[in-house]
Amino acid sequence: MNRTRRLIVVSNREPYTLKAGRLEKTVGGLVSALDPVMQVSKGVWVASGGVPGEWKGKKPKKRVKVPPENPSYILHRVFLDEGVFDGYYNGYSNRFLWPLCHITLDKIYLKRSYWLNYRRANRLFAEAVIEEAGRGDVVVWLHDYHLALCAGEIKRMRKDAVVSLFWHIPWPSYDVFRICPQRQDILEGMLANDLLGFQLDLFKYNFLRCVDLELGAGVDYKGGYIHYKDHTTRVRAFPISVDFRWFEKAASSKGAERFLERFVKERGLEGLMLGLSVDRLDYTKGIIKCLEALELFFMKYPRFKDRFTFVQIAVPTRAVEPYLSYRELVRRKVASINKRFSRARWHPVEYIEDRFSQQELAALYRGSDVAIISSVYDGMNLVAKEYIASQVDLRGTLLISQFAGAAEDIPGAVIINPYDIESCADAIKTALEAEPARKRDALRKAREHIKKNDIYRWVDNILKELRNIK
Ligand code: UDP
Ligand code: G6P
Repeated sequence: MNRTRRLIVVSNREPYTLKAGRLEKTVGGLVSALDPVMQVSKGVWVASGGVPGEWKGKKPKKRVKVPPENPSYILHRVFLDEGVFDGYYNGYSNRFLWPLCHITLDKIYLKRSYWLNYRRANRLFAEAVIEEAGRGDVVVWLHDYHLALCAGEIKRMRKDAVVSLFWHIPWPSYDVFRICPQRQDILEGMLANDLLGFQLDLFKYNFLRCVDLELGAGVDYKGGYIHYKDHTTRVRAFPISVDFRWFEKAASSKGAERFLERFVKERGLEGLMLGLSVDRLDYTKGIIKCLEALELFFMKYPRFKDRFTFVQIAVPTRAVEPYLSYRELVRRKVASINKRFSRARWHPVEYIEDRFSQQELAALYRGSDVAIISSVYDGMNLVAKEYIASQVDLRGTLLISQFAGAAEDIPGAVIINPYDIESCADAIKTALEAEPARKRDALRKAREHIKKNDIYRWVDNILKELRNIK
């Protein structure tokens, strides 16, 4: 990053969260990749400080130096009133924009107060940015659908700031986007950015088309530029990735071997072939579809009873509707499959509603014969790439939904359609019976690609593009 420009990152989630009086690093590729950049650039990370219910004790400080072991950059917390937070995060972000962008339209629930609080929250984030920006040159890097209006608010106060937003989730076609009653405000807010990043060319194209049809802006589809009201926005696709070397190392470690051994033993899975899915308990992950395919698999291929168990890790997330009902559906489906097929010392689905550390996940990824990503829609899906990076013995197969962004970015993966449960069931069987040499070839190809295009390259590419903006 240019030395004279201050880097300010803004996201809803904090890179470090105060838990029981201690700062804990947030798990995820974004924080792993940006934390070192922030440490070197001595920038500022602006994030939501959560709401009183989450603190369990004293309110955290507004500004704190992180990381705790080597304080080098500022975490600036934005404290929102409970009502504002609820409308902005649970409401507009998660009950409206999330299902809209993931085209799960029956899940949409929208109230006008959500929008008002979303606007209010975006303004408060922007004010925090301005407070931190000082007088010098500044580059602001916004993250995700929580912050669609932030650039506009920042530019109103500091026209000279360079501002970019990376949209981590899909962007739908205009047919779907026109459901949004606030579509003009959202698009105009986003066009205040100098650079807009999407995961895939498809999402970038969808966005350009929405702007074209809704605002009649000058759209250069080929070059990826939008000219609107005397401002130009570059629009680019930057598929996000993972820290390949970290996962490779973690999966190869003695600790990983020990963890896997214990895991398999404690759960009575010794000697079985293992399938694995790792998802937040989110309806977009298609967990029910995957379980339906699995049920069919055991019906069609009963010879796999006693030989294969499917491990579903489901991480509790966003404690609001429709997540709560979805959790019940998943639990019921698992219970019915287990009731139907279990034998004395074997059960088809090992269902775990818990969060694992990435060290532990690396071990599970390594030890699984097949990993299934069944998203009905997904911006990228990092789990898919983490699985490939952790397959150090080259013996597994990745089945990935054609609706997950990562399907376009992992050569050698087997593409599935989660709605076609019959062919998903067949794909599981084919994967479990595949020739070792074919699996090795596919994994080598995939690993080479992700190793080269890792999360550090993703950050570099975006920062490089930002440097070119005057
Ligand atoms: N993850 C984790 N512990 C778990 C389950 C998931 O740390 O028990 C991490 C996982 O390693 C991955 C992220 O959560 O980095 C999930 O990212 P993904 O893109 O797959 O889905 P998202 O949850 O962002 O929609
Ligand atoms: C997706 C979103 C992120 C979000 C994450 C976890 O990956 O793109 O912005 O942080 O889900 O969701 P949560 O609501 O718990 O932050």
